[in-house]
Amino acid sequence: MTDPAAVSDDPVLDDVVADDFGETNVWINPLRDPADRRLPRIAGPSGLVIFGVTGDLSRKKLMPAIYDLANRGLLPPGFSLVGFARRDWEDEDFAQVVHDSVKEHSRTPFREEVWQQLAKGMRFVQGEFVDNAAFEKLRETIEELDKAQGTGGNFAFYLSVPPKFFPQVVQQLKAHGLADPPKGSWRRAVIEKPFGHDLASAQELNQVVHEVFPRDEVFRIDHYLGKETVQNILALRFANAMFEPIWNRGYVDHVQITMAEDIGIGGRAGYYDGIGAARDVIQNHLLQLMALTAMEEPASFHPKALVAEKLKVLTSVKIPDDLGKHTVRAQYAHGFQGGEEVPGYLEEEGINPKSKTDTYAAIKLEINNRRWAGVPFYLRTGKRLGRRVTEIAVVFQRAPYLPFDAAATEELGQNALVIRVQPDEGVTVRFGSKVPGTSMEVRDVTMDFAYGESFTESSPEAYERLILDVLLGDANLFPRHQEVETSWRILDPIEKYWDAHGKPAQYQAGTWGPAEADEMLARDGRSWRRP
Ligand code: BG6
Repeated sequence: MTDPAAVSDDPVLDDVVADDFGETNVWINPLRDPADRRLPRIAGPSGLVIFGVTGDLSRKKLMPAIYDLANRGLLPPGFSLVGFARRDWEDEDFAQVVHDSVKEHSRTPFREEVWQQLAKGMRFVQGEFVDNAAFEKLRETIEELDKAQGTGGNFAFYLSVPPKFFPQVVQQLKAHGLADPPKGSWRRAVIEKPFGHDLASAQELNQVVHEVFPRDEVFRIDHYLGKETVQNILALRFANAMFEPIWNRGYVDHVQITMAEDIGIGGRAGYYDGIGAARDVIQNHLLQLMALTAMEEPASFHPKALVAEKLKVLTSVKIPDDLGKHTVRAQYAHGFQGGEEVPGYLEEEGINPKSKTDTYAAIKLEINNRRWAGVPFYLRTGKRLGRRVTEIAVVFQRAPYLPFDAAATEELGQNALVIRVQPDEGVTVRFGSKVPGTSMEVRDVTMDFAYGESFTESSPEAYERLILDVLLGDANLFPRHQEVETSWRILDPIEKYWDAHGKPAQYQAGTWGPAEADEMLARDGRSWRRP
């Protein structure tokens, strides 16, 4: 007999997935109808503690996102924000830093009354991660906030710190009773990437975190899943009738997923060197984009159903037998970008001039299932490329027969559906059309959907959505530990191969990557799109 709780036809997967979703006692407000779309999703009484609060991510993304949420009325009135760091700051100094970061980076306009309200709940705790007294102070601060701000004991701990500190911080939270929610409240851990640097380290981290926090209270951040355009992949695929029939090996020639950045590594040498492009973004963002593009329709939008489908794709991935031919990694060399001269990776401050770290990576993957067998998914990413753009291009096969003169279709390319993730958010469909005139000539044209033209509301930043979801306890947009580990299983052999085989290729800053990447596609009779 079939198990009614099963989410897939794979008993192992069911076990793994079921294991990760305990039921929690969530109080349901009988006066709120979840189907009523007039009611925005507003977080209940709660607070957020940020470790690594002086870091770039916190100042550029987290603090502004919190303000934007408050400004949109999506945080409770007593929402509290606690910063934890080594700096010798008072609460006011911390509030000033938040203020400056909000003024500089928030998406929505600055409103003094919103700021004043938010500032009331701000506290700073000074300390090192080894410092017991600091964690005691953190406990007292949270208790004080529960009384003064009505946070109800509900706190999320955001670990925006290098992974080597995760074990220490979660152990300290446990030792000082911070991970145990008072009755009727919740405690959650929010973990920034990178989640390990290979499978073994990720498994170790997962074990440490799961020892302290229940699995369904751990939220791993992959900020790409917080992007509107990424969530729209699900709407595009599963709310429409016209794409599904052609979304398979019968019609699709190949898929190209590109995440290009024009920036270099900036001040992140310490993090980036030794990690590189593939670990930094392919292991997480690009594999998630691939999973969403390739997965089967989920039974529902319950996180358990979604993760089951994504996991099935990730576990079906086949890496090429000949990694030398079907993967490329490279480093940017000195060049020009936006009219400015920029240094090569090895000349960047803080980088070992002998570093073999990749700033560009391109890999070919296949998905061994009935829908996709034989359809290559090409994933590429790089820093200091031509421009900042992320897109998923589903490229279709040529028509089986063209009843035209060869000259008429000389300029006809392959049909394509391009999900423009950023910065020019939308979807493009490319197909052939007759050029007006007396002869038959067919050329590629495009049909565009642009967010800016179709919707009046602007898209929230990924971190707004994700922080709100953490406070609401909604795990849909967060990769589960099995996904993180399976993604490392895909990347580890490729990294190992690269380690053992020579040096990265070079590409001039401001170009579209190394010649080796073009050759990699040419070998398959294809070429990269110019996004
Ligand atoms: C991060 C990477 O996850 O994503 C960075 O660590 C990268 O290296 C960033 O610059 C890009 O994010 P976005 O949202 O600008 O595409």
